This record gives sequence, structure tokens and C-alpha cells, in this order.
Amino acid sequence: MNNRILWTLFLVVLMSVTQYVYSEPKPDDAVHYRQGILMALGWNVGPMGAMVKGKVPYDAERFRFLAKRLELLAPMVREGFIESSRSAESDTRPEAWENLEDFNQRFYELEKVSSDLAAITINGDQEAVVKQFIATVNVCKDCHDNYRVKR
Ligand code: HEC
Repeated sequence: MNNRILWTLFLVVLMSVTQYVYSEPKPDDAVHYRQGILMALGWNVGPMGAMVKGKVPYDAERFRFLAKRLELLAPMVREGFIESSRSAESDTRPEAWENLEDFNQRFYELEKVSSDLAAITINGDQEAVVKQFIATVNVCKDCHDNYRVKR
């Protein structure tokens, strides 16, 4: 191969990589992404809730595992609320976009309470864990009451 072909190949590869890295996701993809992460939040919160309600026996190790996952997932949600997905079909109410600062603040709050929950599950007793779990799900609920379409 001569240099020119190599150079062209290099540019093609570079362009495809940068396109992958820098291109803005499609609005519908952003909606699916955030719904997926939110679903994963619910997936992990559910079994913790069942333990807190006494529907299944409290298992500290499992609780710790689920809380750690929640801590890792929580900061990922906000990324899916890109401006171009504002009018895409979803269960986000227009109020969320109109009060973006408050909306984002609630996600930061979720990150904090989830992270505190994960920390408490390391050494905290069951009572402290339950208290922090309730504080966490209240952040979910408050945001849903304000910004999620009711079904
Ligand atoms: C800052 C606001 C906010 C917080 C905090 C929040 N949610 Fe939501 N949630 C939403 C919005 C808005 C939607 C609708 C998303 C959409 O369709 O665009 C939603 C949707 C969902 C869905 C449905 C996803 C789907 O498949 O359509 C689940 C499940 C969910 N949230 C669980 C949770 C759980 C569990 C927590 C707390 C650990 C939580 N959410 C915290 C705003 C929030």
C-alpha cells in the first residue's frame, strides 16, 4: 500500500470513530436510554422495598448489593434528557423541561441519597438502612408526582 491509501484509510477510520464519539444521539434513543436506566432503578429498588415491607426476609448482604447498584445507576439517568428529546414521545411532562434546574437538582439529590444508602449498608444497622431507603424512594416519588405523566 502506498502512503496515499494508508492516509485515506486513516482518515476514514478517524471520521467514523469521531462520528461515533461526538454525534448527538437520536431523540428516541435518548428516551429509550433513560427509560431503560429508570427501569433498572425500579428493578433494584423493588426487592429492597419488599425487604423493608417484610414481604421477604431482610438480607443485609443482598440489600448492600442492590444499594450499590442503585448508587452506580443513579448518575446515568440525567444523560438521557437531551434537549432534542424534549418533544419526543415519552412520559416526561413538559414541566420538567420548563423547570430544568429543579428537575436536574432532583437527580443530583437522588445521586446523593443513593450514595448515602450504599454507604449505610456497609456498617449501618437495619433501622438506619430502612430510614435511608425511605428517604431515597421519597426522592423518586416526589419527582414522579411533579414531572412524570401519570398512567
Ligand atoms: C428527577 C426526577 C426523577 C427521579 C428522581 C426519579 N424518576 Fe423515575 N421517572 C421520571 C420521569 C420523568 C419518568 C418518565 C421518563 C420518560 O418516559 O421520559 C420516569 C420513569 C420511571 C420509570 C418507568 C420507565 C419506563 O420504562 O418507561 C420507572 C420504573 C422509574 N421512573 C423508577 C424510578 C425509581 C425507582 C426512582 C428512584 C430510585 C426514580 N424513578 C427516580 C423522573 C424521575
